[in-house]
Amino acid sequence: MSRPVISATGLYTPPNSISNAELVASFNAWADRWNAEHAEDITAGRMEPKPHSSVEFIEKASGIKSRYVVDKDGVLDPKRMTPNIAERPNDQISVLAEIAVKSAQEALAKAGREGKEIDAVICAASNMQRAYPAMAIEVQAALGAQGFAFDMNVACSSATFGIQTAADFVRAGHAKTVLMVNPEICSGHLNFTDRDSHFIFGDVATAVLVESDDRAPKGGWSILGTHLKTVFSNNIRNNFGFLNRGDPEGVGKSDKLFVQEGRKVFKEVVPIVSQMILGEMDRLGIKSSELRRMWLHQANAGMNRLIAERVLGHEASENESPTVLDTYANTSSAGSIIAFHKHSADFKPGEKGLICSFGAGYSAGTVFLEKTA
Ligand code: COA
Repeated sequence: MSRPVISATGLYTPPNSISNAELVASFNAWADRWNAEHAEDITAGRMEPKPHSSVEFIEKASGIKSRYVVDKDGVLDPKRMTPNIAERPNDQISVLAEIAVKSAQEALAKAGREGKEIDAVICAASNMQRAYPAMAIEVQAALGAQGFAFDMNVACSSATFGIQTAADFVRAGHAKTVLMVNPEICSGHLNFTDRDSHFIFGDVATAVLVESDDRAPKGGWSILGTHLKTVFSNNIRNNFGFLNRGDPEGVGKSDKLFVQEGRKVFKEVVPIVSQMILGEMDRLGIKSSELRRMWLHQANAGMNRLIAERVLGHEASENESPTVLDTYANTSSAGSIIAFHKHSADFKPGEKGLICSFGAGYSAGTVFLEKTA
């Protein structure tokens, strides 16, 4: 049986970054306008005024300092509060496929591969641009890849679920080179007028090339084991879809974008994830002392601190559990892959690390890796 190896990764970072200060200024300007428009109802006690957001709160509660976005002007315009992403005609590549292809090109170049050598493409992300044709098939065509392609959505855990699926194809002999991409335009499904969540997400695309060890170039990452878990929860939800386009009265309109009970998510997900990691380490015979680094999902710095501490038995250093959340914010499925992409070049053969994601569903996935010679 072929053993699966991660041979390369790629990252596409949009050119525009928004600082907390810029985001908060636009939110507060929007809130002031809203309060002025509803002044009569607010004064009469029929409506609550919209309170201001704060840079200090955002950084302290989440660890996020800035985020990259595909469009900055629309997000920061207090009259708009949503990105300007023009619809493209069907004969042009779609925005989601375009950024996926950019990240894939880096991964392919690093592995010394051409598009035509790919046997399968998986687009694993939180929000697809459309119902069909699959984004993955558009990416497959743009790269001139062979075989088959399909989309899968397991929210923030999409990348680890995608890696396990790719690894299973390699093990079963269905494919030898699988491209897994995570294009995440999170700004398109974020409610920038919701103070509790307007700061959470950023945009990015990542790519992971999973290959059989007999074909992969030297120096890749052997996949030692993968484990996936889901537990249903409504605490993170997005009801957008072609069956739920919003009713004419506007009832329930805000749940067509991202909504969450952040506190509950924090409390419930930390034990699920830390127990899952420890169980998988036990199964694979990996001791905490043998784990050089954890590339954790990037949603909240406090959550990652707790999970890493439970797994390692001590407070994790930045070297043991690197953060990209401060500059990228939460990029859904791509977060742990960005951390791996940016913080793995210093590994020596034989050293072990963990890619771990968690999020809506709830869903969680672990991918234990060993650097090869
Ligand atoms: N600016 C200022 N104050 C704010 C604010 C903002 N932008 N947003 C919320 N607040 C206020 C709240 O109204 C609340 O006020 P109150 O105490 O008077 O009620 C207070 O700050 C605390 O809010 P809370 O929502 O309890 O904050 P928190 O410490 O739980 O942090 C999150 C919020 C979302 C950052 C945090 O819960 C989190 O990251 N959870 C995990 C989420 C996650 O992983 N989701 C996965 C997504 S894929």
